[in-house]
Amino acid sequence: PALAAHPQVLAGRRVVVSAGPTFEDIDPVRYLGNRSSGKMGFAIAEAARELGAEVVLVAGPVHLPTPPGVTRVDVRSARQMRDAVIAALAPQADLYVGAAAVADYSPVQGADHKIKKTSATLTLELARTPDILAEVAQRTPRPRLVVGFAAETQNLAAYARGKLYAKNVDVIAANAVSGAESAFERDDNALHVFWDQGETEIARAPKRDVARRLLALVAERLEAGA
Ligand code: CTP
Ligand code: CA
Repeated sequence: PALAAHPQVLAGRRVVVSAGPTFEDIDPVRYLGNRSSGKMGFAIAEAARELGAEVVLVAGPVHLPTPPGVTRVDVRSARQMRDAVIAALAPQADLYVGAAAVADYSPVQGADHKIKKTSATLTLELARTPDILAEVAQRTPRPRLVVGFAAETQNLAAYARGKLYAKNVDVIAANAVSGAESAFERDDNALHVFWDQGETEIARAPKRDVARRLLALVAERLEAGA
């Protein structure tokens, strides 16, 4: 659909979206990864552009086409994603949407050569990766609105609200990632969205429709604070 077909509620806004998994290299042929197709984040970047925003999409390793009019930065690891997101926020982004499934841990020391199977067991030492969402939400200057995702297999509302407050973000979009409701590798999604003063459900629909609904909600909150 033509740009003009959508109300330009994000016109003049600078938006940074992270999407996809990150891969943390163990050795030259192996990595620790996360189950993420990147489709939700790419749909958000595309929808933000259609709604008039200037969009930078920081993408982990996925094979998806770049949405029209979107500036794409490809990264592999959590550390690279963090650096690319921080760089993309300047000068003064209005909105950050952290839709990436960032690896929580990364090998302390990546091996320069392929690890050979010389022992019956293998222990990898892992270190926490930077929490990109928390860092973006806590830095100065900060995007006016910071939106995170929460992938949960249980206690969705409690964990999602916990992340909202722990990371100082404005909106958390939660999805259930176990059983039939799993969002992985699907073209549709359902979200439960939480903010300080309220919550709402976005019913199961194609990811591009869910993206538009989420951004409509976010645009309203941007307007309110403008
Ligand atoms: N996130 C991030 N950087 C990380 C880990 C997570 O920016 N190193 C972001 C994700 O992009 C998402 C949000 O934090 O927007 C929540 O991710 P999730 O994996 O659900 O929560 P975690 O905070 O990592 O906690 P846990 O995995 O223990 O549930
Ligand atoms: Ca995590």
